[in-house]
Amino acid sequence: MGEEVNQSRRGFLKALIGLSAVAAVGGMGKGAIQNIISPAVGLSGFPETMLYWNDPSTPNSAPVPLKVSKFPVMSAQVWVYYYPLSDEPNFLIKFPDPVPPSSVLIEATGQTFTSPPGVGPNDSLVSYSAICQHLGCIPPIIHYYPPNSLSQLPPNVQSTLNSENKKYGVIHCNCHGSTYDPYKGSSVITHPTQKPLSNVVLSYDSITDAVFAKKLVGPTVFGHPSDLSGGNGISNLKKTTLINMSSA
Ligand code: FES
Repeated sequence: MGEEVNQSRRGFLKALIGLSAVAAVGGMGKGAIQNIISPAVGLSGFPETMLYWNDPSTPNSAPVPLKVSKFPVMSAQVWVYYYPLSDEPNFLIKFPDPVPPSSVLIEATGQTFTSPPGVGPNDSLVSYSAICQHLGCIPPIIHYYPPNSLSQLPPNVQSTLNSENKKYGVIHCNCHGSTYDPYKGSSVITHPTQKPLSNVVLSYDSITDAVFAKKLVGPTVFGHPSDLSGGNGISNLKKTTLINMSSA
């Protein structure tokens, strides 16, 4: 009987040792596999990222946190920053008036979403994906046209603009003519696009006058399976710098 108990104990110990060995090999294997498979791209969640820029009043200096009160109103310059992926450019536009939230139609699906309101001292700063939802053209081919440059648009686009479009300008893509309303969550003004641009939710710190990108809402950024995948995250998730593509 005693020998039987000892035999069982020996068997149990052998099994434990065997399992430990399997676990150890499994762990090594996992590490080895992780070393030979390239890292997964994308992000697991939206980072909160502060916007920086090269302040035009101090040219050639290092990027500093953007002060919203210093950002130009309805600028003809093409201001773009990358967020949250390094292949996802976004426009930044400041209006002279507060921007209220809008109900925005996604024609392709029949769904609607509510656009985020403007932020900043005057609730007038907004941001949108800068990748056209038709076939993916990027700035400067697609860009914001302030009111004083609307005469550059094709006549068929000019004839569709309402008084609010003429007051606040439009985003237009010169690839095939899609036009978006930046004062109304980038809702579609002219086709062929069937979707508005993805909207960036911003937050504002009234003490420092700084602004942060927090997440994207609305239709997914063109060419991406989700707003967080299909590319690599920006190199520094805490900081992204505005680029003036007009002078690039
Ligand atoms: S890619 Fe912009 S209109 Fe076609």
